[in-house]
Amino acid sequence: MEVKVFKDYDELSQQAADEVINLVKQKNDAVICFASGNTPLGTCQWIVKKAMTEKIDFSKCSFIGLDEWVGISPDNSGSCRFFFYENLFKPLQMADAQIFLFDALATDLNNECRKMDNVVAEKRGIDLMIVGIGINGHIGFNEPGVDPNLLSYAIDLHESTKAVGQKYFTGATELAQGITLGLDHLMNSKKVILMANGKSKSEVIKKAIKESVTEEMPASIMQKHKNGFVFIDEEAASLL
Ligand code: GLP
Repeated sequence: MEVKVFKDYDELSQQAADEVINLVKQKNDAVICFASGNTPLGTCQWIVKKAMTEKIDFSKCSFIGLDEWVGISPDNSGSCRFFFYENLFKPLQMADAQIFLFDALATDLNNECRKMDNVVAEKRGIDLMIVGIGINGHIGFNEPGVDPNLLSYAIDLHESTKAVGQKYFTGATELAQGITLGLDHLMNSKKVILMANGKSKSEVIKKAIKESVTEEMPASIMQKHKNGFVFIDEEAASLL
């Protein structure tokens, strides 16, 4: 695992966007997995800008969504699906056939998970995963204490995740479960970039990358990834 510290959020976002753009230039059918949330928003915006100015063809790529809030409708602006369509898929004019997202309203969540695992297997793995980190150390919805050997699964969310998650929604929203790619997918991805910015992430970043690897701190598994990178701004790096 390698840690790269950037001056501020914009520089961090540009560098992460360059990773995606350079990958697609080299491999036009790249398989890319993204987290939604506040952290990757700037990255999405830079990808769109660079794709337009550099005329990058995304039409053969595949995009996999890392996670989703179970029971939240796709037209809810707080859903991960909404985020991806608004910030990435519509601006890049991507076709639905390229997009693989969990269906938050599926009645059989286990089946949703197996479908996603099959997508990853059929595409021969994920080339690049860009993930964020929750203040309790989760990646996607891999909450503290979870088995790191899981593929996709649904999970009851921790209280802090339900509370912090309210920031994505316009009104108070009941959040109970999440559906997510498990850490086995992360460890098998050819490259992973964990991004974090701001003072509020400095404590969890220190625990995740400077302390021991433990299931209680899911993001600490990044330390074991052979092609894992942690991209952070100076504020998130302030306790290192
Ligand atoms: C959320 C999501 C994660 C996301 C993380 C950090 O709960 N499940 O996929 O990476 O928390 O979010 P943010 O980037 O908004 O801080």
